[in-house]
Amino acid sequence: MNMKIIIIYESTHHGNTKKLVKAISERFGDEYSLSCLPVDEAEGVDLSEYDIIGIASGIAAGNFYQRISEYVARKLPESKNVFFLYTCGIKIGDYSTGIRRTAEEKGCVILGRYGCNGFSDFGPFKLIGGISKRRPNESEIAGAVEFFGNIVGDYVKENDTEK
Ligand SMILES: Cc1cc2nc3c(=O)[nH]c(=O)nc-3n(C[C@H](O)[C@H](O)[C@H](O)COP(=O)(O)O)c2cc1C
Repeated sequence: MNMKIIIIYESTHHGNTKKLVKAISERFGDEYSLSCLPVDEAEGVDLSEYDIIGIASGIAAGNFYQRISEYVARKLPESKNVFFLYTCGIKIGDYSTGIRRTAEEKGCVILGRYGCNGFSDFGPFKLIGGISKRRPNESEIAGAVEFFGNIVGDYVKENDTEK
């Protein structure tokens, strides 16, 4: 199936989220037409060309980072297939609800979300050597790869008209 996928990411704290994106790219970059781009290089990208758009970010104040949130609000076209990836210092609840709402307001189809812990030494956490040390770990990274494989596999099954 001829299909284009892009993951736009912001991973400025410790590169935690980028680890998920990199592992996905290493596993699936040859199998699918998959581009991965930091949000600060994504301004000129025409997202309407892509069948599936992934948005990946660390979490600040319970939401995807401000820059990528604003990018999604401005640039995400209507009615796209979208998924979310994130890493966070303390995993309580679903931190993708805010960004998901933005995408839903544009009539996008939400394919899924994956979140896991990521090391943080922000603010007072520095005093105790940080939280979520050595995270994301191997199995969390593998979980992100599996998540991606599953949602894209399902998408292909539902949309492959060449069968
Ligand atoms: C300014 C700032 C605010 C943060 N706020 C939260 C938060 O509200 N909840 C949380 O679980 N983690 C929070 N964190 C931790 C990061 O989300 C976590 O370390 C994440 O893995 C960083 O991802 P990155 O390295 O890809 O940028 C915060 C980190 C920073 C730097």
